[in-house]
Amino acid sequence: MRPINAIAILPLCLTAVGAASTLFRGGTVVAFNKQTQGLNVIRGGSVLITNDRITGVFTSAPSKVPAGTEIVDITGKIITPGFIDTHRHGWQTAFKTIASNTTLIEFFGRYSSFVAPFFWNATDVYDSQLAGLYEALNAGVTSSLDHATHTWSKDASSAGLQACIDSGARVFWGFTFANITGLVTVEDLYPVIREMAKKPGLRNSPTTLGIAYDGWGPNPNVAEINKIMALAKELNVSVITTHSLQGPWGFNNSPEDIHALNYLNISTPIVFSHASFLTPAGAALLRSTNQYISITPESEMHYGQTHPVSYNIQDQASLGIDTHITFSTDILTQARIWLQQTRYERYLDVLEQSKLPRSNPMSAEQAFLLATRHGGLALRRPDLGIIAEGAKADLVIWDGNSPALLGWVDPVAAVILHASVGDIEAVLVDGKWVKRGGKLVAKGWPDARANFLRTAKRLQAIWRDMPMPEPPAEFNGVPVVSPVQADVLRGPGNGYGNVYI
Ligand SMILES: *[C@@H]1O[C@H](CO)[C@@H](O)[C@H](O)[C@H]1NC(C)=O
Ligand SMILES: *[C@@H]1O[C@H](CO)[C@@H](O)[C@H](O)[C@H]1NC(C)=O
Ligand SMILES: *[C@@H]1O[C@H](CO)[C@@H](O)[C@H](O)[C@H]1NC(C)=O
Ligand SMILES: *[C@@H]1O[C@H](CO)[C@@H](O)[C@H](O)[C@H]1NC(C)=O
Ligand SMILES: *[C@@H]1O[C@H](CO)[C@@H](O)[C@H](O)[C@H]1NC(C)=O
Ligand SMILES: [Zn+2]
Repeated sequence: MRPINAIAILPLCLTAVGAASTLFRGGTVVAFNKQTQGLNVIRGGSVLITNDRITGVFTSAPSKVPAGTEIVDITGKIITPGFIDTHRHGWQTAFKTIASNTTLIEFFGRYSSFVAPFFWNATDVYDSQLAGLYEALNAGVTSSLDHATHTWSKDASSAGLQACIDSGARVFWGFTFANITGLVTVEDLYPVIREMAKKPGLRNSPTTLGIAYDGWGPNPNVAEINKIMALAKELNVSVITTHSLQGPWGFNNSPEDIHALNYLNISTPIVFSHASFLTPAGAALLRSTNQYISITPESEMHYGQTHPVSYNIQDQASLGIDTHITFSTDILTQARIWLQQTRYERYLDVLEQSKLPRSNPMSAEQAFLLATRHGGLALRRPDLGIIAEGAKADLVIWDGNSPALLGWVDPVAAVILHASVGDIEAVLVDGKWVKRGGKLVAKGWPDARANFLRTAKRLQAIWRDMPMPEPPAEFNGVPVVSPVQADVLRGPGNGYGNVYI
């Protein structure tokens, strides 16, 4: 036995009375090497967890483990850290599949928190948020930063936060301060967030309170921002997040905007979702203040926020999902899309000079780090997204014998380029099993499924009967025009077809 990071196992059983330990023995461990800041693949390795933490990583089975340790044989399997999603709107799950060809402008006017609260009640928010979190856990996403736009009332806020707690997932729940015409103002929400901070069960759950805010610029209300940032400090929030697009979209909320107000260079992490048109000055600010962006590859392709400069800021980037109602909720898919998109772009640079590439511009290891470790860095939680002694026991076990993975040699390539959610055999958050034997075992799942189905059916029928709005001629003063539609049919017609809701 050779411990990777020197640890003393024996004292564990003396000090940690009643501690629950599990040893995952004999698998391929995709561990993290703090010296090289890279991956450390250990074949025939073992991982010991005690309560919510990883307490040992070994190159072979340790000869001594704490008394009462559960031994789990993972021979032939791959064990990785859980994935981290740094941008999500989890409450929206009930809209799943009803907006497959929607646009971003239509989304705001039809599916967003500026419309939904007039039809959704607190039970709907709870059911929808919970089902979405089980979907994410099933997909190996153990942590997520939720830009929680469902905070339009005390009841709706409380319901969504309760769902996070009940799910067992590690949710950085970003309470959203927004004005919703005809319903609520930012002013009304100060007492609501204070109440959320006191929610029973929050302290003992992996979920923490954060803040989401999209009013940084242009034309910020400085008094409002000062008040929100004072609350951020008073409530010791775990993270602040904002939608940042710039370019033709507007929604600046740029690093420059926040820095101008003296709130960028702070100890609290600030995550900029998309940052599609980040400027070189904004990128320099992210680096000097160590703040991160969340690239949401599938969202940015689906809606056209795009990501023309994100290739250049991957050293300050993590990966996110955004609206899981319109596409996959798994960070594995995001990592794969982003890897190939980066390769495509970097190859194009070469081809456009009428030359050919002699090397591959991005590796599977880099995509793996973005999907795991970088989420932890964005949240300033170096104990998340890695397998190393002292890290949180948020783990995924992959079935190495599945048809997709059979014959694998490189476990990182196997996961990033060949696996799917169906190959995830087990998931643990904070050392607790949420998926095992390929099935969700979280105790709330059967009820959550039944309740969600009822809720989703009712809400989907309301939206089916809601007339489609005409797109506006302008958005934030920018003309709105039709892109060229794809044509997949020979001859007349293009095959655009219909939606089936
Ligand atoms: C929300 O609406 C559903 C369907 O009408 C109902 O069953 C449920 O009790 C309502 N929940 C609340 C909190 O009003
Ligand atoms: C909320 O409304 C106030 C008053 O109109 C405005 O000054 C403020 O900028 C708004 N905040 C956001 C985040 O839109
Ligand atoms: C604030 O939260 C951090 C974790 O996000 C924790 O380490 C720290 O102890 C908290 N501080 C206070 C004063 O509660
Ligand atoms: C942020 O603060 C650190 C330490 O206080 C300082 O060294 C750095 O220059 C600051 N960066 C910016 C952009 O203000
Ligand atoms: C989506 O497709 C449906 C059916 O063809 C169409 O009615 C709708 O206008 C489309 N929506 C958008 C935003 O393209
Ligand atoms: Zn978003």
